[in-house]
Amino acid sequence: MLIEKNVSLKPYNTFGIDAKARTYCNISNLEGLKDILTLKKDDPLFFLGGGSNMLLTKDIEALVLHLNLRGIEIVHETSNKVQIKAMAGENWHEFVLWCLERNFGGVENMSLIPGNIGAAPIQNIGAYGVELKDVFVSCNAIDIYSGDIKTFYKSDCKFDYRESIFKQDLKGKFIIISVVLELTKSNHELHMDYGAIKQQLEASKISTPTIQDISNAVIAIRQSKLPDPKEIGNSGSFFKNPVITSNEFEKLKENFPEVPSYKVSENTIKVPAGWLIEKAGFKGKRFGDYGVHNKQALVLVNYNNAKGQDIYELAQLIQKTVKRIFNITIDTEVNII
Ligand code: EPU
Repeated sequence: MLIEKNVSLKPYNTFGIDAKARTYCNISNLEGLKDILTLKKDDPLFFLGGGSNMLLTKDIEALVLHLNLRGIEIVHETSNKVQIKAMAGENWHEFVLWCLERNFGGVENMSLIPGNIGAAPIQNIGAYGVELKDVFVSCNAIDIYSGDIKTFYKSDCKFDYRESIFKQDLKGKFIIISVVLELTKSNHELHMDYGAIKQQLEASKISTPTIQDISNAVIAIRQSKLPDPKEIGNSGSFFKNPVITSNEFEKLKENFPEVPSYKVSENTIKVPAGWLIEKAGFKGKRFGDYGVHNKQALVLVNYNNAKGQDIYELAQLIQKTVKRIFNITIDTEVNII
């Protein structure tokens, strides 16, 4: 097992932050992972997957284990359903393309989400009306302390909006090594309720869309709003959309009648953080090497060589300003390291 010293993590985080790993090890098979967990049992460890949901504000003193387990296989099949097991180091979008090539439906609305398979259950990734939990069957995860592998089924994972047990009670205790998803082989259930998808399909004059058409529509929408991390460093939505009570929402509406909203339950309402941040005057604001994306205010960007700490301070300023103007707390979706 090769342990390297002072490795730049810039290529391994989509924000493109040039933080260093004091020690770094690339893990490409399960045996290697088990070995190093035994060998380095008492050392501080830092697990890195696709690096698409983190902001590095400092160098990492712990041993960075870069998880690159690869492989996709069909594990179960019926006349209309297929269960696919993908290893944690597979790129999410490449997995979506693999499914589309075989006409397997269920993940097309989540096209172009950055990151790896292994991170998908941690924050229950989602976009355009579909979340991972809608297709999730189970995942295997390795207990960092004992090295045992445990299977977590959907009901074990406590999925919620950008939440799961892996971000809560089990944080730092397990590493996801593979995920099983169940997709359809025909009679796909299409999700087109999201306004932007409908408009995109209409613009392309598609009245009976396939899963490929939906994927194309989602890709077009994402490319029009969200910066490509290969060109401009970013981690997608930096904040979660806040969920507030109906009473709080009524007060907000008195001052801002035009505020967009989505009902979550009888008493709770989700307000788009992008709208709050735009109203607070931050959309498109650039501070040298970093700033707020000009097409989607929920996304903070690194134009070139920004420091993670600077972006973090901008995020805090945004949180404070939104709190002062709207009396709403917006939490980060991205992990601050
Ligand atoms: N809005 C603004 N200004 C902005 C951005 C948004 O006013 O700068 C308003 C829009 O007018 C719209 C509403 O906010 O009415 C919602 O915007 P959008 O459809 O872009 O979705 P979002 O709520 O901002 C969420 C996810 C995205 C996902 C989209 C589509 C979160 C935190 N973000 O964004 O996920 O792609 O919905 O489903 O839930 C991600 O997690 O990294 C991500 C990109």
